[in-house]
Amino acid sequence: MESLRVEGLSKQFGGVQAVNRVTFSVEVGDRVAIIGPNGAGKTTLLNLINGQLAATSGSIHFFGKDVTALPTYKRAHLGQARAFQIISLFQKLTVMDNVLLTLHGTRSSRFKMFRPIEGFTDVHNKAVQTLRTLGLWEKRNEPVSTLAYGEQRRLEIDLGLALEPKLLLLDEPSAGLTKEEGLEIIGVIKGLESSNTVLIVDHDMELVFEVAQRIIVLHYGEIIADGTPDEIESDKRVREIYMGLD
Ligand SMILES: Nc1ncnc2c1ncn2[C@@H]1O[C@H](COP(=O)(O)OP(=O)(O)OP(=O)(O)O)[C@@H](O)[C@H]1O
Ligand SMILES: [Mg+2]
Repeated sequence: MESLRVEGLSKQFGGVQAVNRVTFSVEVGDRVAIIGPNGAGKTTLLNLINGQLAATSGSIHFFGKDVTALPTYKRAHLGQARAFQIISLFQKLTVMDNVLLTLHGTRSSRFKMFRPIEGFTDVHNKAVQTLRTLGLWEKRNEPVSTLAYGEQRRLEIDLGLALEPKLLLLDEPSAGLTKEEGLEIIGVIKGLESSNTVLIVDHDMELVFEVAQRIIVLHYGEIIADGTPDEIESDKRVREIYMGLD
C-alpha cells in the first residue's frame, strides 16, 4: 500500500531551485533515507512533505489523499510526525509540559480550550508512560534546557513516535550525538513497527546504511539516484558527485 507519493515537486527561493521536479513514492513500512551534500534540498523536501513550506509546483499525496495545499497541523492529524534538524522542544518549559503539549495536540479534546491540560487523564497517563519509558521520569519537572543534548534529541524523536505516526520524518536525528547516542537512535528506528513508514535525512552513512532499505540521493534539488544501499554504494555518479571517492 502506498503511504506517500510526491510528483514533480519543486520549491524555488528567489533564484535558488532548492527542490527540482522531485518524484518518488513510498510504500507503507518502507525505511527510506534521503542523502546528499549540504544545500542539496533535503530539509526543504521534508518541509514540503509536512507542509511547513508550500510547494512552488507539483503535488503530494498521503494515503491517496492530495495534501499539497493542507496546512501542517492537518497533515499531522492524518498521521505525519516530524523531528527537526534543529531541536524544536520548548526549552523553558519542563520535560512534562513538552510531553503534554505534544500529546495533547493530537487528541480531539484539544478543542475544549477551557479545561486545564492536566485534566485530560488519557493524555496524562500516556505522558507518564512516555516519560517512564524514556527514563526521564525523575527529570519531569526540570526545564528541557537542563537536559543533555543527546537526551533532548531522544526526547524529540520519541515524542514524534508517541504520536503513533503513519509517517515519521526525521531530519538528521544523529546530528550532534555521541557514537553511543547515535547507536541508540539506530536501535529506536530499527525497533519501529512495520506499519510505520520512515523518511530519514542524515549525513551519517553508517546510520543510513544500517536503517534504510532504500536510499534517494539529492543533488542541487534533483534526484540523481534512487535504489537499494548496494545500488547506491556502487553508483558511479553518486560516488563522483556525492561521496567524492573516485
Ligand atoms: N528559507 C529559505 N530561503 C532561501 N533559501 C533557502 C531557504 N531554505 C533553504 N534555502 C536554500 O535552498 C537550498 C536547499 O537547502 P536545504 O536546507 O534544503 O538543504 P539541505 O540538503 O537540508 O542541507 P544540509 O545538509 O546543510 O542540512 C540551499 O541552497 C539553501 O540555501
Ligand atoms: Mg538540512
